[in-house]
This record gives sequence, structure tokens and C-alpha cells, in this order.
Amino acid sequence: MYAQDYIDPGTPESTADELVTVEIDGVSVTVPEGTSIMRAAAMVGNRIPKLCATSTLKAFGSCRLCLVEIEGRKGYPASCTTTVAPGMKVRTQSEKLTQLRENVLELYVSDHPLDCDTCPGNGHCELQDMADAHGITTSRYDVGGRVHRDTPKDISNPYFAFDPDLCIVCSRCVRACDEVQGTFALTIDGRGFDSKVSASQNEPFLESECVSCGACVEACPTAALTEKSIIALGRPESTVTTTCGYCGVGCSLKAEIKGETVVRMVPNREGHANKGHACVKGRFAFGYATHADRIVKPMVRKKITDPWREVTWEEAIGYAASEIKRIQAKYGKYAVGGITSSRCTNEETFLVQKLVRAAFGNNNVDTCARVCHSPTGYGLKHTLGESAGTQEFSSVMKSDVIVVIGANPTEAHPVFGSQLKRRLRQGGKLIVIDPREIELVRAPHIAADYHLQLRPGTNVAIINALAHVIVTEGLTKDDYIESRCEVDSYRRWKEFVADPKNSPEAVADITGVPASLVRGAARLYATGGNGAIYYGLGVTEHSQGTTMVMGIANLAMATGNLGREGVGVNPLRGQNNVQGSCDMGSFPHEYSGYRHVSDEAVRAQFESSWGVTLEPEPGLRIPNMFEAALDGSFKGLYIQGEDMAQSDPNTQHVISALSAMECVIVQDLFLNETAKYAHIFLPGSSFLEKDGTFTNAERRISRTRKIMEPLGGYQDWEVTMMLSNALGYPMNYTHPSEIMDEIARLTPTFAGVSYEKLDRLGSIQWPCNEDAPAGTPTMHVDEFVRGKGKFYVTEYVPTEERTSSRFPLLLTTGRILSQYNVGAQTRRTHNVVWHSEDRLEIHPHDANVRGIRDGDWVGIASRAGDTVMRAEVTERVQPGVVYTTFHFPESGANLVTTDNSDWATNCPEYKVTAVQVVKVSQPSEWRKRHRELTKRQRIQRRAGGGRVSAQPHSPSE
Ligand code: SF4
Ligand code: SF4
Ligand code: SF4
Ligand code: FES
Repeated sequence: MYAQDYIDPGTPESTADELVTVEIDGVSVTVPEGTSIMRAAAMVGNRIPKLCATSTLKAFGSCRLCLVEIEGRKGYPASCTTTVAPGMKVRTQSEKLTQLRENVLELYVSDHPLDCDTCPGNGHCELQDMADAHGITTSRYDVGGRVHRDTPKDISNPYFAFDPDLCIVCSRCVRACDEVQGTFALTIDGRGFDSKVSASQNEPFLESECVSCGACVEACPTAALTEKSIIALGRPESTVTTTCGYCGVGCSLKAEIKGETVVRMVPNREGHANKGHACVKGRFAFGYATHADRIVKPMVRKKITDPWREVTWEEAIGYAASEIKRIQAKYGKYAVGGITSSRCTNEETFLVQKLVRAAFGNNNVDTCARVCHSPTGYGLKHTLGESAGTQEFSSVMKSDVIVVIGANPTEAHPVFGSQLKRRLRQGGKLIVIDPREIELVRAPHIAADYHLQLRPGTNVAIINALAHVIVTEGLTKDDYIESRCEVDSYRRWKEFVADPKNSPEAVADITGVPASLVRGAARLYATGGNGAIYYGLGVTEHSQGTTMVMGIANLAMATGNLGREGVGVNPLRGQNNVQGSCDMGSFPHEYSGYRHVSDEAVRAQFESSWGVTLEPEPGLRIPNMFEAALDGSFKGLYIQGEDMAQSDPNTQHVISALSAMECVIVQDLFLNETAKYAHIFLPGSSFLEKDGTFTNAERRISRTRKIMEPLGGYQDWEVTMMLSNALGYPMNYTHPSEIMDEIARLTPTFAGVSYEKLDRLGSIQWPCNEDAPAGTPTMHVDEFVRGKGKFYVTEYVPTEERTSSRFPLLLTTGRILSQYNVGAQTRRTHNVVWHSEDRLEIHPHDANVRGIRDGDWVGIASRAGDTVMRAEVTERVQPGVVYTTFHFPESGANLVTTDNSDWATNCPEYKVTAVQVVKVSQPSEWRKRHRELTKRQRIQRRAGGGRVSAQPHSPSE
């Protein structure tokens, strides 16, 4: 059932340009052609009774409750399946219609328990609403015939239950799973009285193909499918619209609450990014926010081997400030820095970089985007002029050919993945470029037209080969290039890619992809209509990450696929606010809006606003900070919401660097891996506890709203402000809206953004300024942001990370649907029932020669380190390639990743590590050490007087 305050017009919106005027109960209404009578009636406030229709699903016409009379037509057509026609006159109320509807309702009620008062659906059940509206309390058909009662409930899913007794077989759930989610996990089994909803082959939901997105639950008009939280907590009292705190899709959610308790999260049907859909994380996995592991009191200790000591906020902030001052006095002002968080709000991120630049007095600020999408920023800025994706998500519905490179949208960006699948089912073509067979390659009712299953590390060779075909076969859009791009740069690039060394045939041995597939894919992208490229970390996290981003932009410009709906270059950002953290000036060389710190005019603007003199030289990047720490010149780090010890590559190196510092301040929800090396712990606040904004992968700025008081007492921006004040640099904001006002004043792309406008419009895509007061859904429409688009020559340079007889396999990494990033949040929810440990995927051939069977423990060794995890033998990976996720600290996936990095941005090469894999019988040294350290952390915490969860983090711990 949809969120409480939503009024359902019953059928989807028509996007037709032609308008049709009809009369409904004497009221004239003009709607797009193709609109249902039901929706047209809703437009003038006339709610026609309905049960099987809802606005997210195609009309089905099964319940016969929505019957109407149409002048000049015989019978009583269903208003959900009948579309408007010019001059049509409709009656929605008459004696006969009432009689027919009452009859239908009596039939439903005759086989439905009438104990509404004790039903979890009480108050939000459409059958109850319809029966009440028609005064139906009993049924003439209730004459002792067969009824559905006491059918076993399916409670296997941890988040929702299915009660067949309450099911009216309207099929909304089945259609939601098919049309909205695209998983096709449900069917209506049997006929007549025996019809029933069935998951997969009549299996419990948990064991079926269901991915627990909740679309069926949202669509169900009764309590047949209900959130277990509603069953446990009862009806919510109010609703707050907020934004999901997990991935870069940025789904708008309605938090339905009781007091300060979230009873359930319902996807917002008016949300621009998600249009009423969500995934298992945003929809259900919010329980981590109140998990017993949350640290809610500040803690300090002199040495990392000491027990933690709980202290007041005053003492913790005072100690942090005195340590920063001490270190700067002793080692110089460049000896400290800060890390902003891609999980925190724009306002919080802006304040951390302001703290570093204005209060620390240096530019030593960086963000976790360093280790994911920094090549996107650099590559797109240089080619197109702006460091962000070009489209809004719904643009994909106008794409004819979709290219997915190094991304796995159905796992990592699930709501966008569902939309993409919908477009493919309508006939869109798909090219997947990925070493692994991701779900999109073959899923119910879709299949990729081309899967270029390249070897990890050969992206640039493939993009050059695609460009070679397009250029040498005359498939470029020359008019477009001539009018919109730097022609000299194009000429140089064209000459380069046309070189036979870049032909698909010449690079086939390097990439492992047959030339015929590359030629076919290139022709399809260049000639198949609107071509859109979506890419992920499989593009950026390479030694040539920036080169590949430039190669993608080159390809889009050469084929005229930029500057309108349906086309574009779209980085799928990982975390909820990774776009925002980059926009807000988190990099050491840039202020908000990607302006270089050496630009005197820009710097003067910030100096005048902030009342300080600012450094004109860029500060240290994360890897430089670690190097400097090991050299002894970098001694203090303030880390807000980022678990560097788990998420950065070459864990041993990171740990050595953190251990070499004199003051590590961690501000987070939980005692994470990095906190094992911290001296000061400041409690963080979850997205439920704060006001602010997040910016998603389509540059969409959306509000997050405070639902409960911060468990630690302060929102994250307030903590940064207290630290700044203690350091002697005054910050006096009373609400994040004031921080946004400052961002807008100092950042041209945000000039028109305000909380008032966000409340009014729901969300805004930057740039938002005088030229675009309501924001910019599509970038580079008439010209590129940099003026003329610039082509860059993208020479393929093989990574230094090569296989050898010692390390014969290539390891690559990725994400899984139910877990998120380092897993700190999702591991503390029921999501562990789907994925409770990281596993190493290995091809049957590679497994056989090593004597490895599915489920065996295997050791993985690289030039950087080694770890142990369980094997999953699967043909999803090709021979010679192994793959793992990185959600669980004990698996130590980053122990084996090297510190090779992108030439332009230092983004680590997570996606290519040469490894050996062998069968082992015991955990690695790391697992043993990790367990000991985690145990010690818990003891230190207990000794300090803190509460420690009795629950383990996950079943595997
Ligand atoms: S939760 Fe989602 S995937 Fe599972 S059955 Fe319902 S709609 Fe389908
Ligand atoms: S479970 Fe709900 S949505 Fe599905 S058929 Fe039954 S009543 Fe309709
Ligand atoms: S995790 Fe991503 S796709 Fe899932 S609900 Fe949140 S924002 Fe949407
Ligand atoms: S709502 Fe139209 S037939 Fe069910």
C-alpha cells in the first residue's frame, strides 16, 4: 500500500502530446490522449472506486469495480482500461453503477475475514475503504460456501509477510514484480477458487527469485502483503518525506512514523529519481540507525592501545582542538587534514572542507570519491567542461541503444536498474562491456545484444577499438562534431584511433574479445538511434581510469550522442552523496563548484566570505597524506563518516599510516575499522537524525529531513561547527539551510538553490541559477559547458599489474544488492540473510585445476598481501578471472589490492590485481588478527564504560 498522503489516480500518466477534452459527470477536463477515464476523473477530483488499478501499473481490468456509463455506448466499461476520446461524456455515478459495485464488493467480502479492527491493514486497506464507502458490512453471498481461511502464512522474508487469507487475487503484486521491478518472481497459480499468488515455483518468498524490493507490498491493496514492522508496531501517525541514505540513485522515501520510531519506509510515487520504487536497502534496511552498536557518547584515549574513556562533548571537542593545535605548533600547519564523507549531507561536507581550509589553514582535504569517481571528475571536466553525468535517470526511457560499461546497475543502483530493464523490455538494445556476466546480460525477458567480456584492465583498448570501427567505417556525426567540438582535437583523435593498431582485430589478443563482437557493438551504438552510456567503478578504478572516461566522452561526441534526452555519458555514482561531496569542494585542489584553489578571483571570493587568507596551492590527497604520515610529517586527521581502514586499498599500508599519526579523530555511527586506530571518537548521526541535502548521480539535490533526535545529541554539521569554534574559527549556523545559502552564494552552479525552492519543487538538478531557475535535467544542450567539446588521444597503456606464474589470475571487485559499501549499515540489518560473507567467484575450470569445490575456504595472495574467503564456483566469471565483493571487514578484500593508481587522480586500481588462489583449511593471519583486534576493541570499549551490543555484527563474525 502506497504512502498515506498519496492520492492514487489509478493508472499511469500518458506522455502523448495530443490533448483530448471529455466531460465527466458534467465537468469538462482536458488530458493527454491515451489517458484512462479513471485518471481523467481523478484530475477533476472524482475518485472512481477501484481495486485492481494503481498508478504505477498498466490497467488490468479484473475487479470490475470501476465501471462507468458512457453516453452513446452500451454496457458498463471499466474506467481503468477505457481511454478518453474527444467529446466523450462519462457518468461515474448512477443507481445501476452503485448496484453493480455493491454486488462486486459483496462477492469480495464473502471470502474475506471481516476482522478489520485487528487486521494490520486497518486504516490503510483499499478493500476496507471501498466497503465502507458503499456501506457493505456483510455479504449476501456468505452462505456457508467454500472460503479461504487459516491458509498458512509465508513469513520467510525478514521484512514482509504474505497472508493468503487476505488476498483478493487482484494481481497487483504480480504486475508490480513484472512491470516495476522486472524480476518476474510472482505468478497467480491455479484457477477460479484455487487461484493464489505464488513466488517462483510455489516456494517461500525467501527461497524464491524475489529480491525483496517491496514493490509487491507497496502495490497490494489489502494487508495480504504487509511489512512486518507494521504488524509489530501498528499504524504510523505521520509521514516525513526524505531521501534514501544508501546509493547514488537517491530515492525519495516517505518515512511513516510513530513518535520518533520509523514504522516503515515507503517509496515516494512523486519522487523524481525513483517514481514510487525502492530496493531492499532503502525500503527495509534502516534498522541500523537504532542498532545497539551505535556509539552515542564521545570517547577519547591517549594511545590506541588504551581503553576508550567516555567523556562529555565539551571534553572531547576541547581535546580534539588542543591536539590539532599542538600538532600544528610542533610539526607545522600542514601536518593535519580532514576527510569529508560521501554519506553525509552537502552541508556537512561543505563545512568539513571549510574547517580544513579556514580553521586548519591548509588545503589538506580529500574525500572517498578519491577512491571511486575522481577520474570521472577529471575526465568529464576536460572533455565536456563539467564533472558530472549529463542526463536524468528517466532519459533512459528515450534511449535506443544503452551501453553499460563496468557497472552492475541491478545490484548497485537497483532502482535505476529496474528502469533500464523496463526500457529493454520495450525494445531498447543493450551492449554490456564487463569482464563478468552481470545480471543484465541475461535476465527474464531481456538479453544483451552484445556482451564484450573483456579481460580486466583492457578498457581503453576496447574503447579505442570501438572508436576505430566508428571512424574507419564513416559512422561519425560530422556536422555535430564540426559545430560543437574543437575540430583540431577531433582530427588528432581521429588519426590516432584510425591507426590499425587500434582495430578490433589488432587488440583482440589483449582484450580477449572477438573482433566481430566489437565491430557489431560499435555499429549498433553509432547507428542505432539515441545511444546512452552508463558506467561505473569498473571504468574509473584503473590505472587508466581517467583515460577511459575521456575515451567514453570522445565516443559520445563523435557519434553526436550528447546534449538531448535519451543519450549522454552517465557515471553511476556509488554512495548517496558522492556527487555532492565532490561538488562541495572536498578535493584538495578545488573549492565548491570545481574551481581551482589557485584561481585568484575565486579564492578572493571565499576569503572575503570566510574572513581568512586561503592557501593558493592544492593540499594533500589521501595517498599523499598516508605517505606523509609514514614520513613523519603528517600527524593528525579528522575523518567524518569514512572507514578508510576498510575501504582504501592495501590495508596494511593504510593501517601503518594511521598508526603513525598522533591524533586520529573518527566521527561515525559505529566503532569501525578505522576507529581501531583512533584517539578521539565523536558520535555521528544517521540520515534519520539530520536535516540537509544529498545530491544523486543525476545531479539531483534532494532534502533529507530529521525524523528523530540525534542519538549522540548533535547532527554532524553541529559537531564540525563545535570543533571549528574550539579551534578559534567561529561558525554560527543555526540550521543547515543557512549553510546551503552560503553554498549558493559561493557556487555558481548552486546559485538558485534554497530550501524553500527544494520544498516547492521536490528536488533540483544543478546547475540551478538565473539561466536555469528550476535546474538542468540535461546538460550540454546547445553547447558544451566548456564551449567546444575537446577530444583527447587515449593511448592504451597496459597496467603494471600483470599476471605471472606466481600470480596467474586477475582479481576484480564489485558490489551485491543486499549489502552496501563497507557494510557497516547493512551488516547490522536483516539483509545478512541474503549475503552474510564475501565470497570469491571462480570459474569451474580454474577451480578444478586447484581442487577447489563450491564453499571451500581459499587463500588469495597478491603482491600486496593475502587473505582467505570461501569460494563460489560459477561461470559468471571467465577463466583466468576471479571476483569478490568487499562488504565484510573480516574477509579483508583490500588486503590484496595494490596501491597502483590512476595517473591523473590517484584513484586506486581496485579492479585489477594479479593473484594466486589455493585451497586452504584455516583462516588467514589477517582473519585471526582481525578477530583479536575486534575483541580488543570491544574490551576497550567496555572498560571505558560503554554499552556493547550483545548481537554479533553478522552471522559470520
Ligand atoms: S519484493 Fe520485489 S522482487 Fe520480491 S516478489 Fe515482491 S516485487 Fe517481486
Ligand atoms: S497479495 Fe495483494 S496485490 Fe497480490 S493478488 Fe493478493 S491482494 Fe492483490
Ligand atoms: S539503495 Fe539506492 S536504489 Fe535502493 S532505495 Fe536507496 S537510493 Fe534507491
Ligand atoms: S479498477 Fe478497473 S477493473 Fe479493477
